[in-house]
Amino acid sequence: MTDLWHRVGLVTDIPRRGARCVDSPFGRIAVFRTAEDRIFALADQCPHKGGPLSQGIVHDTSVTCPLHNAVISLQSGEMAGPDEGRVRRFAVRVDPLTEVIELSLADNAERLHAAE
Ligand code: FES
Repeated sequence: MTDLWHRVGLVTDIPRRGARCVDSPFGRIAVFRTAEDRIFALADQCPHKGGPLSQGIVHDTSVTCPLHNAVISLQSGEMAGPDEGRVRRFAVRVDPLTEVIELSLADNAERLHAAE
């Protein structure tokens, strides 16, 4: 089986309450670091009008889109508020010793093959 975990970098490479972008076959992915050093990964595209979520403000476990202030859950990818929408999520894991972040495209690869 193909190893679908990809090294992103170290936790400290991402500013607290910030994000780092990674290009993938599924488009640009934003890897977020919260104030509590939790790591999440979402497609870098707001479900409203495609705003770059990586440039949004991270608060608790959400990010506010920089374009029209939609609030997106980093845990579920769901958009909160009157509008509905969901951002594609990606699995991440952090090695507790080295703090290396790895990103998985596995679920999305299965979806890609299912669509073919
Ligand atoms: S594009 Fe994100 S809120 Fe409009």
